[in-house]
Amino acid sequence: MDYEVVLPAAGSGKRMGAGKNKLFLSLANKPILIHTLEIFQKDRNCTGIYLAVKPEERDYIQHLLNDYKITKVKGLPNGGKERQHSVHSCLKVMNDVEIVLVHDAARPFISQQVIDRLVETAYEKGAAIAGVRAKDTMKKVQDGIIVETVDRENLWSIQTPQAFRYELLRHAEDVAEKEGFLGTDEAMLVERLGYEIHIVESNYENIKMTTKEDLLFGEAILKNRQM
Ligand code: CTP
Ligand code: MG
Repeated sequence: MDYEVVLPAAGSGKRMGAGKNKLFLSLANKPILIHTLEIFQKDRNCTGIYLAVKPEERDYIQHLLNDYKITKVKGLPNGGKERQHSVHSCLKVMNDVEIVLVHDAARPFISQQVIDRLVETAYEKGAAIAGVRAKDTMKKVQDGIIVETVDRENLWSIQTPQAFRYELLRHAEDVAEKEGFLGTDEAMLVERLGYEIHIVESNYENIKMTTKEDLLFGEAILKNRQM
């Protein structure tokens, strides 16, 4: 079951506070970006990788791709102001693909099993996203005061990858662009057009490297895998 993957990598990593794109920081002596790329380089079902990049980082990324023998990259289009724009710019340069996965380059621990199930579900149903059950008690707060304790039973924390029939996601992104709608993930753009999106239960290791502590968690995850 073939697919192509879009990896938005054109962020600035403000919350990480490293003064540079957090994807260039190392985990176990290898850039976070490379950890993520190697997963898709290895997956035989993945037939192409599209990376949205900042123009000023393209040369450096191209060097990394050569150094680490990442050969599946078919496009390195310019990213945009927001993540959604970066994803859209990749979709615009892709063609002839049935299923597309969108995955944050900043999530280097996605498991092959979850990728397989997402692709399978997207082929069957059109749209599938990775998520985990909420662990904490969830409350809605307004002006520092609790308004409501939300029933956790139906709450999920959503991750990437998010997998779609290419035509469906492309349409949803085009509509969002036309209407000036900005979503926080791809699913949101597809949801608002009335399509059903399936959840694939992922795992808690699939963290997004966002703040400094995540580097510690990341090192621990890698260490644990070596044991
Ligand atoms: N991303 C992107 N284009 C943007 C913003 C983000 O391609 N305009 C990418 C990031 O590189 C990252 C993924 O989207 O791989 C998830 O975004 P996030 O974790 O928010 O990363 P940053 O935007 O870089 O971090 P921050 O929000 O802390 O600045
Ligand atoms: Mg961001």
